[in-house]
Amino acid sequence: MQTSNIVKTLEMKREQARLGGGRARIQTQHEKGKLTARERLEVLLDPDSFEEYDMFVEHRCNHFGMEKNTTAGDGCVTGHGTIHGRPVFVYSQDFTVLGGSLSETNAKKICKIMDMAMRTGTPVIGLNDSGGARIQEGVDSLSGYGEIFQRNVLASGVVPQISMIMGPCAGGAVYSPALTDFTFMVNGSSYMFVTGPDVVKTVTHEIVSQEELGGAGTHTQKTGVADLAFNHDIEALLQARRLFDFLPLSNRSGVPHRPTNDPADRVDMSLATLVPDNPNKGYDMRELVERVVDEHDFFEIQPEFAKNILIGFARMEGYTVGIVANQPMNLAGCLDIDASRKAARFIRFCDAFSIPIVSFVDVPGFLPGTQQEHNGIIKHGAKLLYAYAEATVPKITVITRKAYGGAYIVMNSKHLRGDVNYAWPSAEIAVMGPKGAVEIIFRGSLKSQEEAEEKVNEYRNTFASPFVAASRGYVDDVIRPQNTRWRICRALGMLRNKQQDVPWKKHDNLPL
Ligand code: HXC
Repeated sequence: MQTSNIVKTLEMKREQARLGGGRARIQTQHEKGKLTARERLEVLLDPDSFEEYDMFVEHRCNHFGMEKNTTAGDGCVTGHGTIHGRPVFVYSQDFTVLGGSLSETNAKKICKIMDMAMRTGTPVIGLNDSGGARIQEGVDSLSGYGEIFQRNVLASGVVPQISMIMGPCAGGAVYSPALTDFTFMVNGSSYMFVTGPDVVKTVTHEIVSQEELGGAGTHTQKTGVADLAFNHDIEALLQARRLFDFLPLSNRSGVPHRPTNDPADRVDMSLATLVPDNPNKGYDMRELVERVVDEHDFFEIQPEFAKNILIGFARMEGYTVGIVANQPMNLAGCLDIDASRKAARFIRFCDAFSIPIVSFVDVPGFLPGTQQEHNGIIKHGAKLLYAYAEATVPKITVITRKAYGGAYIVMNSKHLRGDVNYAWPSAEIAVMGPKGAVEIIFRGSLKSQEEAEEKVNEYRNTFASPFVAASRGYVDDVIRPQNTRWRICRALGMLRNKQQDVPWKKHDNLPL
């Protein structure tokens, strides 16, 4: 073929590939309120930054008439681009081509970019919108899933992986997002389940809608499988760009730095009155976090799940930090199974990618009850303890009020290698609250209400202050609330070159 003809053919093939499953199916996609695979990449990536690979790949299946049903690119757009100038590998499943189903060949395309991401230390963002394994291909399609899962696992802790669920994601396909670091969903148009409503009905006779079984609400509020849900594709993609800005490119790159005009020594007097005088009254820990971090910019992860603990990213002096904070507005800030799992996974992500962790503590203990005990709070609580204890990144703790019992130890205490541990004057560091303590110490021996109150006061005066812990060196200093920002900035600066070794091991045995 002459070069000019080849160029013409090239342009024609590119045009066909860009159309995916054709105009009618694109229109159907739009009618469902969804963008196409390529439109999504335009929103996610910087303008003109996308380099596409494997645009001409076609499947090789010849069962069930598939030899006559080929599309250039085979239903998945892959390549790399930039987000605010930083590189990222992407794949975007094209629902207009055979329902975005995963084939042997388009799985190879995904594996190719994942391998490149690993070689170059570059994050991967997967845009999922697929009817699952391509049914006409049988085991060849399944093999594709297996190859992707294997790479998700190898990449875990090496490069950040983000999954965007923007349509169906069912059956075994759900396990790729589950293996990645962050999962975003779109309200109303995305769902994730291992078995769909029809199978559920047949097996358990339960009648349940797709939305209820595995919609964005279910996974961001009940299961914690997804981190955040948004109202439409564009919002989800723009927020993925925002999250990306906080993340290192790989486990060797160090955290990104964004210059800020927010002075490190900014004093915030409102923090001095944030904690109420009444120890049983809540206050909004989110407000505290926002007042302390650069430009009040806190990217909260899983805000709708286990609301008794806050996790998310922020910056201090322009450098990314991970925030973990008990939320007294919810369950009085108690730790429970969901909160432990949520924070543990986040801490492990931060540690894997050298992101310093700043913890704000106001925790009356672990949540009591048969529901918690019978569902294994012992194992799940241990995950949080384990995550803090194994983390070697800079770890800073600020105890704002209660730090009782086991929860005191777990929340990045000095005993778990907290580097810099501060307490506010309102801190109470004890085995338990004064009332509970007196009931146990003086069980049956107190003759009157007055005597009981006297003992409660005695216990409070002894332990309901930061000074006993400070006298032992368990907190490094008692700081004024208004100075929290600059004290943390200084501590982080001091810890910037921290190094801590761990004993040799093949890998640990996390209490799963
Ligand atoms: C091949 C598929 C497909 C699939 C959809 N299509 N899913 N083709 N393999 N898995 C095709 C349809 O034939 C149709 O083609 C087009 O995609 C759009 O599908 P519709 O059904 O018209 O769309 P919609 O009504 O929106 O329904 C979407 C859907 C449904 C709910 C996803 O298509 C569906 O239930 N698909 C099958 C899901 C499934 O059982 N997958 C296998 C799961 S097992 P035309 O030509 O009409 O446009 C699995 C194992 C993985 O994934 C294991 C990994 C370990």
